Amino acid sequence: MANLEVNFAGIKSPNPFWLASAPPTNSGYQIMKAFDAGWGGAVWKTLGVPVVNVSSRYGSVNYRDTRMMGFNNIELITDRPLADNLREIEEVKKRFPDHAVIASLMVESKAEWHQIVKDAENAGSDGIELNFGCPHGMCERGMGSAVGQEPAVLKTIVEWVMEVAKIPVIVKLTPNITDITRPALAARQGGADAISLINTIQSIVGIDLDSFAPYPVVDGKGTNGGYCGPAVKPIALNMTKNVAQHPGVGLPISGIGGVETWRDAVEFILLGASTVQVCTAVMHYGFGIIREMKKGLEEYMDSKGFETIDQMVGKALPNVKHWEDLNLHYKVTASINEDKCIGCQLCYTACEDGAHQAIGLSGDAGNRKPHIIEENCVGCNLCSLVCPVEDCITMVRTDDGTKHKTWKERSDANDIPVTFNDEKAGGRGHWVPEPLDALKTPKPKHYGV
Ligand SMILES: Cc1cc2nc3c(=O)[nH]c(=O)nc-3n(C[C@H](O)[C@H](O)[C@H](O)COP(=O)(O)O)c2cc1C
Ligand code: SF4
Ligand code: SF4
Repeated sequence: MANLEVNFAGIKSPNPFWLASAPPTNSGYQIMKAFDAGWGGAVWKTLGVPVVNVSSRYGSVNYRDTRMMGFNNIELITDRPLADNLREIEEVKKRFPDHAVIASLMVESKAEWHQIVKDAENAGSDGIELNFGCPHGMCERGMGSAVGQEPAVLKTIVEWVMEVAKIPVIVKLTPNITDITRPALAARQGGADAISLINTIQSIVGIDLDSFAPYPVVDGKGTNGGYCGPAVKPIALNMTKNVAQHPGVGLPISGIGGVETWRDAVEFILLGASTVQVCTAVMHYGFGIIREMKKGLEEYMDSKGFETIDQMVGKALPNVKHWEDLNLHYKVTASINEDKCIGCQLCYTACEDGAHQAIGLSGDAGNRKPHIIEENCVGCNLCSLVCPVEDCITMVRTDDGTKHKTWKERSDANDIPVTFNDEKAGGRGHWVPEPLDALKTPKPKHYGV
């Protein structure tokens, strides 16, 4: 049976599922309820300087039937008194000594950092997370992402914290930067014990077409907010991979951004995270989602023979390469399973207008099922991605598997194409219809063969 316990940079937790610093961790009431439901840890809503919040605060991107596919906020750090938060941290730790309680912190001066680190420790926190990510409001006051975007400043503040910290220190990074490894390296050089990422991505989720103001609207005006939820997971996964693969960083990673299911969590873990943090999914569905997450993770680990989380961490990293290291001889071609095909022709339209005109129609009104024109299929995947029927279009390997050559190997051997007619150039033999064919009805050549 899989063991979900983790020891993250010295912070012990019954499972790798933590609540991210955000509204679900605003109070001891919520965190006790979450631990009772099964969450392993919680990063307290960021403690720091006094703030004033606005109303409204949240906006979202609803995509078709999915509400809150992307979520954004213009909220600041906690607006509850520091003393109340510290007292409640103490209470939670007394009631749940084996769960992880991490104090997220954000202040300005060295003296303030020293004081708040000691306060968080005295309250019994298991660790500290430095919030260098908030992309609105706090950055205008020189904190949050204003620090996360300046590796030298970030390193200095981490050093201030490390002067007094006796418990593990996690640095939470902002994704609003070109190269995430620069602040990650700075955190390492400053002496941090771990990294968490990502905080929210600077965004405008939409504009009210009547009042001409961005959402969320505050008295007829708006501002850029921080984007999160399912929409940001691909960006967060890539940044997690970048930090995990960088040989100079070498710190435990807590993965954040769009985690909603056990599968999302496993993806972060396979890319190098050893815990995950969740905000939007809990704001949407509540603490109860943890039951499915834990069960799913346990079952996945059992099915793969993983006994501990550590055994899974970074398992996908050796397979994440640079483009130049991919096998140029590997070739797949789309294949339609006629028995499953419902004749919607979405694949035809996608390939015809958005890819390589490699899907043909029979031209017979009684037969709506398309066919693949193999000579023109470049194996791009598009048709299989748009097809609404599971496993109806599959990508079938069509090279013989005997050859392996990468662009790097070719360029090192000076074996690169110099003209488009070159035998070594890709895409040869893949025909393109004549421009005027576009105006003919029905379309020739590939429209019914
Ligand atoms: C309303 C809201 C408030 C947040 N407040 C904080 C905060 O105080 N401190 C912090 O470090 N991150 C804060 N975050 C960012 C989250 O901790 C998290 O990094 C981000 O939402 C990505 O995770 P998700 O996709 O699971 O939401 C906040 C996010 C939201 C939506
Ligand atoms: S894989 Fe790409 S090129 Fe081939 S049929 Fe599908 S959409 Fe067209
Ligand atoms: S998208 Fe799938 S189901 Fe629709 S016609 Fe193409 S193969 Fe058939």
